[in-house]
Amino acid sequence: MRKPITTITALVILLALGVGASAAQARAQDSRAAQDGPLQARVRGNPQPAWPDEPLVTARHGMVVSAQHLATQVGLDILKQGGNAVDAAVAVGYALAVVHPCCGNIGGGGFMNLHLADGKNLFLDFREKAPLAATPDMMQNAAGKVVNGRSTRTYLGVGVPGTVMGFDEALKKYGTMSLAQVVAPAIKLAREGFVLEPGDVRIFNTSTAYFRKYPNVGAIFLDHGRPWKAGQILRQPQLARTLELIEKDGTRAFYDGPIAAAVVKASRANHGLLTLKDFRDYTVQWQKPIECDYRGYTIISAPPPSSGGATICETLQIIAPYPFAKWGFHSAKSTHYFVEAERRAFADRNTYLGDPAFVHNPIGRLLSAEHAAELRAGIQPDRATPSSQVKGSLGPYQATDTTHYSVVDDKGDAVGVTYTINSFFGIKQIAGDTGFFLNNEMDDFTSKPGVPNQFGLVQGKANQIEPGKRPLSSMSPTIVLRDGKLAMVTGSPGGSTIISTTMESIINVIEYGMNVKQAIDAPRIHMQWYPDEIFAEPGAFTPSVQSALGTMGYKLRPVHSMGDIAAIVVDPRTGLLESVNDPRYPAGEAAGY
Ligand code: GLY
Repeated sequence: MRKPITTITALVILLALGVGASAAQARAQDSRAAQDGPLQARVRGNPQPAWPDEPLVTARHGMVVSAQHLATQVGLDILKQGGNAVDAAVAVGYALAVVHPCCGNIGGGGFMNLHLADGKNLFLDFREKAPLAATPDMMQNAAGKVVNGRSTRTYLGVGVPGTVMGFDEALKKYGTMSLAQVVAPAIKLAREGFVLEPGDVRIFNTSTAYFRKYPNVGAIFLDHGRPWKAGQILRQPQLARTLELIEKDGTRAFYDGPIAAAVVKASRANHGLLTLKDFRDYTVQWQKPIECDYRGYTIISAPPPSSGGATICETLQIIAPYPFAKWGFHSAKSTHYFVEAERRAFADRNTYLGDPAFVHNPIGRLLSAEHAAELRAGIQPDRATPSSQVKGSLGPYQATDTTHYSVVDDKGDAVGVTYTINSFFGIKQIAGDTGFFLNNEMDDFTSKPGVPNQFGLVQGKANQIEPGKRPLSSMSPTIVLRDGKLAMVTGSPGGSTIISTTMESIINVIEYGMNVKQAIDAPRIHMQWYPDEIFAEPGAFTPSVQSALGTMGYKLRPVHSMGDIAAIVVDPRTGLLESVNDPRYPAGEAAGY
């Protein structure tokens, strides 16, 4: 069996390389920065994890938070030039494809969640699709065994990318600027290069062996065969050329022009399935987001083909009656009920959800009050329920990476984008001289029922591979409203852990009254049905809580880090925007004006 959680492993390596002082601290001059007290004072004795201390940033007019400070600055510049949140979001998305190439992308896909100042809530699905020649058993050998690495490291893992069409659609419908205006900063960063920071280099170092394997990748992402070092300048002329083609010809260049032709040629040469028809037929779609109430707030999140909104809402409905604030953050009791709720919601996720164009998603039933009550009744007060006793209740883990960013503009438009090439650097391969990494999103499908994917998720037939189908995702760009007004934009990378990380950021603010810095610094936990373990960051539990959980039958899996929340919260008293860079990704930045 494959080793699960490859990206968690990557993050362990990444974090083992050391967490230096945050460059973001030196970059806060544009915003009114206010340091907050150390988290452990508020989180009842939990030891402080070894993240750098990032400044809490406040702003009156607009704010951007992303995993790379130069991309954040691109978005902030667009807002200051009078662009709206959609203009800034598209500009940040293209910039991240250059300065955060592990995850920011044009070779993948994602979701955009929008709350417009006029009250409209919109959701754009630009998730990748399986090639038309894809088959349910394409990741298996003749003996029916899933072939290790086929869905993650080969061209068979590549889904038809959606990012370029998604950004084009969002910009045309709700932006105010031209494509040339919002792509220009990315082209400049690619052509002129940018200075690498320790946080950038650490991510590159997770994949050096792969960069060495592919000469066209190593020519860009290695310095004469050696890993790039912090302080050096990375230039990407091939990617600059690709972005210029998109700037000139728009989606045609990508889906019916030289870029599609280059990807199809490389795919054919490497036993992949992609054809020009796959590119020409690709479409994006506007969808109705999933909505639910939690403690008087409206949670607006990702609908299928994402499992994020349904799983977050199902979990929140189960835990709603429990007084978590009274029981305490990550106390044995609140952890027990949170984990049992997640166990049941993930069992439903992994059993019933898939691309709604192919399978019926029983969202109404999963999110009904009756279903939540039934699941609640099955939780034993003093012990863990083994996952083997929990089934999809109407009749399993993910590697990171992906990236999320959030933007709020002066008018009150809010945009959350989570987009991905799946693992760090996708299949780690670049088609010819296109300069961008291709996704391995086909691994998000069920390669075989019962066999875990790279995130350890054990999924069913609803998410089997079919031609033109979108793989089930955990990406959960989420907007929280209070009385119809913006309260929070949040989201994270992290494979299946996205759901827990995003949900804990919301619970920390709403239930525990934390500010955005406390909510993001706080250690995280995650449970996804299988493996039957609680994933826990350092400091997630005090020793006594850990021992109480052990007595109740829980097994803990220590992980160094989960996710990278990019959240903006509106302070209800002052109306000011508040954000902070998640210290787990020190190259990131929150900035506003
Ligand atoms: N590729 C991770 C996700 O979409 O869930």
